[in-house]
Amino acid sequence: MRLRYVHGQYEYLQQHEKAITEPEKRGYKLNEAFSNNNPIHVELGCGKGKFLRETALKNPGINYFGFEKSVKVAYRCAKCMFEEDPDNYFIVYSNGDILTEVFEPNSIERIYLNFSDPWPKPSHYKRRLTHRNFLEVYRKVLREGGEIHMKTDNNDLFEYSLQELKADGWEILMCTRDLHGSEFVKDNVMTEYEERFVQQGKKINKLAARRP
Ligand SMILES: C[S@@+](CC[C@H](N)C(=O)[O-])C[C@H]1O[C@@H](n2cnc3c(N)ncnc32)[C@H](O)[C@@H]1O
Repeated sequence: MRLRYVHGQYEYLQQHEKAITEPEKRGYKLNEAFSNNNPIHVELGCGKGKFLRETALKNPGINYFGFEKSVKVAYRCAKCMFEEDPDNYFIVYSNGDILTEVFEPNSIERIYLNFSDPWPKPSHYKRRLTHRNFLEVYRKVLREGGEIHMKTDNNDLFEYSLQELKADGWEILMCTRDLHGSEFVKDNVMTEYEERFVQQGKKINKLAARRP
């Protein structure tokens, strides 16, 4: 469904307590957004933020950033983020390809890729968030032992991602092609897309991989 343009959505994001807009223009690293040294987890393409907010509320000792490149989606995400929530998360209106500009090297503990756009045409594979060019970016900002956690309903994207990760030397820590029929579902927090796909009876793939 196409989201409607709402007048003033960018200005709304600029003023929202839990939103950071265009961090690359601010001249500081996002690590400084928190006044503690808790581990940092990042979700790329957080959509309307269900996973981001619920995961942050569940884990007060971790700092979260959810990147969303669409202003319309980021606006809707911010609308569901409340000032009275704990201050361990931000929605970042920005493209996730700028991670090395906005984070200190070796400073992120985990990156979540939840139901990333599949980009099915081979000529568009470079846009996939698990393309080797993105893996190179993640290697730089993830700290030693840092992990990627990926979920998708798209089997082609999943197999491609496994291949890219293995070819780049990442250690596959877990992998399932049926998350909801597996033991790994225990601590799972559903995303908006995941809820929809599970209702449709689709199987969800999940993997976790450790930085080489
Ligand atoms: C298919 S939706 C999934 C949303 C959410 N993760 C979920 O599972 O419900 C993908 C979202 O990622 C965003 N996105 C895609 N590529 C991105 C990038 N490079 N940086 C930031 N956001 C991105 C899109 O705008 C879209 O809102």
